[in-house]
Amino acid sequence: MTASSVGKPLDRVDGRLKVTGTATFSAEVAVANVAHAVIVGATISKGKITALDVGEAQRVPGVVAVLTHLNAAKVPGADKPTEMTDKVVQVLQNDAVLYDGQPIALVVADTLEHASHAASLVKATYAAEAAICEMDKEIGAGFAPKAAPGRPPPDSNRGDIDAALATAFARVDATYTTPCENHNPLEMHATIAVFQGEDHLTLYDATQGIFGLRKRISKAFDLKPENVRVISHFVGGGFGSKGSAWSHVFLAAMASRATGRAVKLSITRQQMFAFVGYRPQTIQQVTAAASKDGTLVALRHEVTSATSRFDTFAEPSANVTRMLYACPNVKTSHRLVRLDVATPTFTRAPGEASGSFALESALDELSYSLKMDPLALRLKNYAETDPDEKKPFSSKTLRDCYTQGAAKFGWSKRKPEPRSMRDGNWLVGFGMATATYPSRQSAASALARVKKDGSAQVLAGSQDIGTGTYTIMTQIAADALGMSVERVHFDLGDTTFPETPVSGGSQTASSVGSAVKRAGMAVRTKLIDLAVKGKGGPLNGMSAEQVDAEAGVLVSKQDRTKSDSYEAVLARNGLDQIEEKIDEKEKAERKDHSTHAFGAHFIEVKVDPDFGEVRVSRVVSAFAAGKILNRKTARSQFIGGIVWGLGLALHEHTERDPRTSRVVTKDLADYHVPVHADVPDMDIVMVDEVDPYVNEIGAKGVGEIGIVGVGAAIANAVYHATGKRVRSLPITLDKLL
Ligand code: MOS
Repeated sequence: MTASSVGKPLDRVDGRLKVTGTATFSAEVAVANVAHAVIVGATISKGKITALDVGEAQRVPGVVAVLTHLNAAKVPGADKPTEMTDKVVQVLQNDAVLYDGQPIALVVADTLEHASHAASLVKATYAAEAAICEMDKEIGAGFAPKAAPGRPPPDSNRGDIDAALATAFARVDATYTTPCENHNPLEMHATIAVFQGEDHLTLYDATQGIFGLRKRISKAFDLKPENVRVISHFVGGGFGSKGSAWSHVFLAAMASRATGRAVKLSITRQQMFAFVGYRPQTIQQVTAAASKDGTLVALRHEVTSATSRFDTFAEPSANVTRMLYACPNVKTSHRLVRLDVATPTFTRAPGEASGSFALESALDELSYSLKMDPLALRLKNYAETDPDEKKPFSSKTLRDCYTQGAAKFGWSKRKPEPRSMRDGNWLVGFGMATATYPSRQSAASALARVKKDGSAQVLAGSQDIGTGTYTIMTQIAADALGMSVERVHFDLGDTTFPETPVSGGSQTASSVGSAVKRAGMAVRTKLIDLAVKGKGGPLNGMSAEQVDAEAGVLVSKQDRTKSDSYEAVLARNGLDQIEEKIDEKEKAERKDHSTHAFGAHFIEVKVDPDFGEVRVSRVVSAFAAGKILNRKTARSQFIGGIVWGLGLALHEHTERDPRTSRVVTKDLADYHVPVHADVPDMDIVMVDEVDPYVNEIGAKGVGEIGIVGVGAAIANAVYHATGKRVRSLPITLDKLL
């Protein structure tokens, strides 16, 4: 057999393009005669536009058009989401202002400079109304989100929580809150829209889902889906914010149609805080109760998250509480309140990241009530089967994550009492938490093709949002085809390629990888068939089982001197190429299993007792996520998730002015994210795990699990260091003084 490429820490196949600046991100695609568009955002959060003066803007040299609600074409589908990832968009359809920064005009000019200058000259007059952005003011009007098809229901209830609570030995009742957080990928959202005539549209877009975008845009503009082509060769991070088509994509298309030109629209860093989603604020009430030996008897997790007045997104924070521990009595709920803000959306581990902060903090609090080690408490309540779905796990190697992580970290050196460990003047704290994330799979297609020169081309629509999709698909394809990675060219990011799902929910490796593997294997099978049954050749007459594929050469297993190259097989049979397209569905065995990745974080913090400064000094995180396809790109995903977790715990917080509901932290100076100096070396343990059920490639997905539990592990370490329990993220200095 060819030495396997899957699992190896192969460098990114697109790495050279990226470090030399020659990878073309959406805004960099060279399109002839392109005009530049700039969005003018509202400066109130609620009310009506009473006048718009665009005269001065129109007189700026080079300005091609100024679109406003007074002259923009109607887009009937703008407020009609049909898919889970669809959002209600604000595309100059009326005079209403629903949130700060909402698009109210679009200036199109020959250069970005002219467009930006002209945009600054658009003058809006408003009739402003009082805008509310504080959750506590609206909490009385909380409502249950509608159950979404294929998603867990908003509420759950098993056992009898009240009866169980009556018998509990130890009990924690606490309210935890997480703030609004904005995605800040390096690459801002960008689109180049090119209408050809009235009914053909090409979009170069920074998106996590080219096919979802095509569906949404073709419906909204009443175009045939096959007449809309979405191209997205490189995406500089998405984290959920690029999973939906937001207002700017529609606006770029509207501008292209109105002006007859290609229109480029790259939003600004400030606009990243306006109309492309964010992680909503949550208020989470948790009750956790145990018997004297630490056996959990009851868990209750009631979540309220904020959404906009006009659209609905619920952060599913309590889902993790349903399945993480073996507890017979569990009750959870999700509620929403409406505020005068933009609509939130998926943000790295939506639900799990925020919900695990509450659950894993509460368990830590319970461990102190029980005088029990926090890790021992988790082990005591280890769920051998999924207590929510009542199914066996397809695989679960969490126990090894706990033990290997704890050993590497030196968890046994932890002194149980808070404020009992020091390093000079610094208070030292150890904290831990469990991580988990669902392992999803959606239908996906892929095409593999071996050409007469012996090279292969493999195609799947998909997109690489920075995770390493190009690289791992090349590895999977090479192994499946029996070729070396150097001879395999994998391409993605084009709706003319086979259809694939959104790169969200950590499902790309699982979904697209399975299709790529099966397409590659189908081509290999065809080649072997031709070699043994086709015209002549050294392997002719053998059975297919007697033949191996090795670096593009078919070899007899019995007599390794007998071989036949792919080129030779194709040439002899008069073929230019062999190709197979596979439409892969969810693996059948998934139905009977619960599919999740697991992990455990062990984190050390040092806290300055005088100033409240928290430094994360050590991180050891162990993950069991099925087959690791590439140890280098997987490690990057885990690390990236954990860095986000540091941000959630200590830094990130979108602040609004309560008087106006306007965002005041609109750039990376005011919106703090962890920088290098905040991030210690991380020790990532990848625990071996074989999963025959989760999908064709046995990989569970690693994009989101890294962040899950980090907020709690840090908060728990801060408590251990200081004796101060912070239940409201981020843990800023003021909360420790
Ligand atoms: Mo992820 S938040 O599902 O892109």
